[in-house]
Amino acid sequence: MREIPVIDLKKQYESIQLELDEVISRVLASGSFILGAEVTAFEKEFAEYCGISYAIGVASGTEALQLALLACGVGENDEVIVPAHTAVATISAVEATGAHPILVDIDLARYALNPDLLAQAFTSRTRAIIPVHLYGCAADMNPILQFAREKNLFVLEDCSQAHGALYQGRKVGSWGDIAAFSFYPTKNLGAFGDGGAVVTDNPDLAEKVRILRQYGWKEHYVSSVKGINSRLDELQAGILRVKLTHLDAWNNRRRKLASLYYELLTGAGVILPQQPEDSQHVFHQFVIRHPRRDALRAFLKERGIHSLVHYPIPIHLQPAYADLGFHEGSFPITEAVSPEVLSLPMYPELEEEKLRLVCRVVGDFLQGGCGPSPELFS
Ligand SMILES: Cc1ncc(COP(=O)(O)O)c(C=O)c1O
Repeated sequence: MREIPVIDLKKQYESIQLELDEVISRVLASGSFILGAEVTAFEKEFAEYCGISYAIGVASGTEALQLALLACGVGENDEVIVPAHTAVATISAVEATGAHPILVDIDLARYALNPDLLAQAFTSRTRAIIPVHLYGCAADMNPILQFAREKNLFVLEDCSQAHGALYQGRKVGSWGDIAAFSFYPTKNLGAFGDGGAVVTDNPDLAEKVRILRQYGWKEHYVSSVKGINSRLDELQAGILRVKLTHLDAWNNRRRKLASLYYELLTGAGVILPQQPEDSQHVFHQFVIRHPRRDALRAFLKERGIHSLVHYPIPIHLQPAYADLGFHEGSFPITEAVSPEVLSLPMYPELEEEKLRLVCRVVGDFLQGGCGPSPELFS
């Protein structure tokens, strides 16, 4: 049976293989593998791309969040407000600093932190807010920034799923005090392993992250503060430099594919993602909702169409996070969407013909679930 994956990283590699092979050979021949010329160049180019002064390459998106919080002075006894519907990494990064994550529910237009709920989550211990630009859509930054200013809080944007997305015409990552990106391979800008970056316009925060990412060293072998080891390596930086030159074209292609999904699925009986007027979505995921999500997913799978669920169990209902003190009913919107969300195939190399097939099978399911048999796709 012909399979349609959710993402196809092999195809992406093949599409730019010569450029990538060239940079990989160059790095191998250089004999420099950690914090060298490629990382420095990537940091400059990525900062420029984001429209911001400083970028610091680190080892993952999770550690980018952790280091950004540490640079802001967040730690033990502090509270950080985070959305209830996000990757577990957003919450684990807060806990890695010793601070306590305070979850708030999301809004349905963006699947992002609902700014109207900030006031009730705020306490005298709150130090920062982490809006997550989930699935590639910007969170509603203006009310979040206004609340943060009134209460003197740091705003750390989690841009791990939204490289290149715009809010009110400006890139995400340039709105808060500081921002974190993941370069996990499946991201819109992905490395060939783990990687991340912190970006900021604040020179003091940038310098702190730079020191914290390597044992607290200002100069080699002298730890001025207690840091960690979280370095982006030269190979990943070189690969990211190549891929960065393609990011806008890839995001445009994602948006084009999304338009086709809208065209073919509007009125079909699934809930489609919204595109708030103030944002330019980059469709890291194309997430639909349906009450019989699991049956739809199985129906697609039987026909060779893969899909994913981001995220099946809200964090506050996961065993490891029972100690956060929330329970069933704490976040009604998050709890309502998690059994319904389904991420359909979405990657720049996806052929339109395959996307049409996905939509046809979704349509068949919605019209009674007996439509084209798996053999049709052999
Ligand atoms: C919203 C969000 N935050 C943080 C992360 C963590 O990134 P990484 O996997 O690079 O640590 C991810 C990646 O899965 C993510 O999607």
